[in-house]
Amino acid sequence: MSEKVLFVCSKGFPEGAYIPQHEPVISAFDHGFLYGDGVFEGIRIYDGAIFRLDKHLDRLYRSLEYLGMEVPFDREFITDHMIEVARRNRIVNGYIRPVISRGDGDLGLNPEKCKHPTLVLIADTIILYPKEYYEEGLRLILSSIPKNSKKALNPNAKLTQYINNIRAVREANLRVAQEAMMLDSAGYVAECTGDNIFMINKKGLCTPTTENALPGITRETIVDIARNIGITVHEQRLKPHHFYKADEVFVTGTAAEVCPVREIESNIIGDGNPGPVTRQFMEEFRKATKDPKYLTHIHQYSGRS
Ligand SMILES: Cc1ncc(COP(=O)(O)O)c(C=O)c1O
Repeated sequence: MSEKVLFVCSKGFPEGAYIPQHEPVISAFDHGFLYGDGVFEGIRIYDGAIFRLDKHLDRLYRSLEYLGMEVPFDREFITDHMIEVARRNRIVNGYIRPVISRGDGDLGLNPEKCKHPTLVLIADTIILYPKEYYEEGLRLILSSIPKNSKKALNPNAKLTQYINNIRAVREANLRVAQEAMMLDSAGYVAECTGDNIFMINKKGLCTPTTENALPGITRETIVDIARNIGITVHEQRLKPHHFYKADEVFVTGTAAEVCPVREIESNIIGDGNPGPVTRQFMEEFRKATKDPKYLTHIHQYSGRS
């Protein structure tokens, strides 16, 4: 198969261009590269349809607003080119990654010097966790690295700035775990490095509020599913020990989908196997990925009217 392409629109490609995925496209002076000054999304394609596109675009524009970044790319422009890049790369089941950075500037921090934001759209297949993690559950650690304080950097925005999360992933790697639970500055569980986290106990389904976490779109889908199947949802402040003694724990994210947790900091969750409620959510989430109300079909999409 021919090499995959990506779409780029930037100072260097002002009209926008489809170019081979591995060709260099970013200026060394792009403030996304120099300073992490940018935003991104991770979006799934299931059977030729984009899952929850509107929600991802809403969050993308909220993240841009947080950075005070005005861009010439509207929702239709981004959608048209995301769909085209997915079509050109023949992605049926995969992943789209829109990234917008402040663009080419000088070596100073001042964003005013960046007159042309950079948009890059990548569509590719996605590497999942291996199957056994879904069957046996993940090992989690409690990271020693806290989330950034909300006042310094609001975790509600999805920024190209994952340094703390990457440091937490390194801790997990060193301790041969697959994910790390991260606390907010007050010691409450916020989320994992790339996922939101849920637990099940006799009260129902409990999850941290999104005050110090990314408002995950998979998280929102799970909350909707719970309400539809009659499981009570509690969005509340939770400490690590609440998770240690939960009946079941699972994480959610666009990449991970719904993945059971078997162990956190050597505490075995339940009997150490994915529990029945987690399995039910895995099953219901699978159905949601086929639900027309969440889907934008890439071959039926006719673009800007
Ligand atoms: C830090 C963090 N939390 C949570 C999530 C899950 O969000 P979503 O379900 O929208 O992918 C992600 C992934 O995007 C993430 O990076």
